[in-house]
Amino acid sequence: MVDLSTKYMGLSLKNPLIAGSSGLTGSAKGVKDLEESGAGAVVLKSVFEEEIVYEMDDVLKEAASQGLNMDQFDYYDYELKGKKLDQYAALIKESKQAVSIPVMASINCTYSHEWTYYAKSLEAAGADGLELNMFFLPTDLSRDPEEMERAYFEIVDKVRKEVSIPVALKISYYFSCLGSMIQKLSKRGVSALVLFNRFYSPDFDIEKLQVVPTNVLSTPGELPISLRWIALMSQKVDCDLAASTGVHDGKALVKQLLAGAKAVQVASTLYRNGKGHIGTMLSELEAWMNRHGYGKLDDFRGKMSQQKSENPAVYERVQFMKYFGGEKGVS
Ligand SMILES: Cc1cc2nc3c(=O)[nH]c(=O)nc-3n(C[C@H](O)[C@H](O)[C@H](O)COP(=O)(O)O)c2cc1C
Repeated sequence: MVDLSTKYMGLSLKNPLIAGSSGLTGSAKGVKDLEESGAGAVVLKSVFEEEIVYEMDDVLKEAASQGLNMDQFDYYDYELKGKKLDQYAALIKESKQAVSIPVMASINCTYSHEWTYYAKSLEAAGADGLELNMFFLPTDLSRDPEEMERAYFEIVDKVRKEVSIPVALKISYYFSCLGSMIQKLSKRGVSALVLFNRFYSPDFDIEKLQVVPTNVLSTPGELPISLRWIALMSQKVDCDLAASTGVHDGKALVKQLLAGAKAVQVASTLYRNGKGHIGTMLSELEAWMNRHGYGKLDDFRGKMSQQKSENPAVYERVQFMKYFGGEKGVS
C-alpha cells in the first residue's frame, strides 16, 4: 500500500488530486460526487464580481426605465451583491456539510477594493481556504506593466490581512517576467500559487461573422507549459505550487509531482471522461509508485525539478535548433 496523502496550503489532503474550479464544483451535489470519486479536495466554481456588475447594470437600466433615479444605486449595490454572496455562502455551507475533504472557495474580482469584502464573507461561510482567481487582460494600454503587476501584490496583501484561512493565488502565464513574478508572489504570504489558469479565448465564425467560444476544454498537449514552470520554480518559491492545465491522466499527474507540485488540479479531463476518471488517475499513480518502489509522495516529489536536474539547461531550451531542422525533421 502506498501513501498518497499530502499537505497543501497547510491542509491535510488524502491525495494530491484536486477537482479544480469549474461548473462541476458549482453545487453541493457535484462536490459530493467528486469526493465519492476520490478527489483529495475541491475548489468551488468562482464567484465572479464581473457577473454581479453586469447584472447590476441590467438592474440599473430597468430602474431607469421605471423612472427610478441613480440615488437608488447604493440600495441595488447592497441588495444584489448581498444576494450573490449569500448564494455562494450557501454553496460553501452545503458543500462543507456534504463532504469531509477540504473545500476551497474561489473569487474572481475585477475591482481591487472588492476583494477583501468578498474574502471575509467566504471565510465566515466556512471555506477551508480561498483561491484568488486573478487576471487582468492587459488591454488597457495606458497602464504600464509595473502598475498592472502591482495590482496583484496589493490585492494579495489586502486579502491576507483580512482573513486567517490559507490563501492561494491562481495566475496566468501572461507576465512580462514570469519567473521573477512567481517568486515575488510566493514571498507575499500566500500559501500556494496555482500554475496556471486557462482562459476562454474567442474564435471567429467566418460565415456568420460572429465571435464564438473555442477550445473550452484543454487537451493533454497543453501540459508542458505548466510542467515546465512547476519544474523551474518548485525549489525556488516560498509557498506550495499546484499544477493546473492539461493534466488528463495518471501519467501527467506523476509528471507534475516529479516536477515538484504539492497538488494537481483537474477540470477538463473530468468533463471529457467523467468524475470516475479521478479513481483511474489515482490508480495509475499508485501503480507507478509501486513499480518504482516509492511508498509516499515525498520519496519522489520534485525529483525532476530543474534544481535537482543534472542538465538544468534543458528546462530553458526554447529553440528547436538542429532537432527539427529540415522538412524531414518532423514525422
Ligand atoms: C467549464 C469550465 C469552467 C471553469 N470555471 C472556472 C472558474 O469559475 N474559476 C476558475 O478559477 N477556473 C475555472 N475554470 C478553469 C479550470 O479551473 C482550470 O484552471 C483550467 O480549465 C485548466 O485546467 P484543465 O486543463 O484541467 O481543464 C473552468 C474551466 C472549465 C473547463
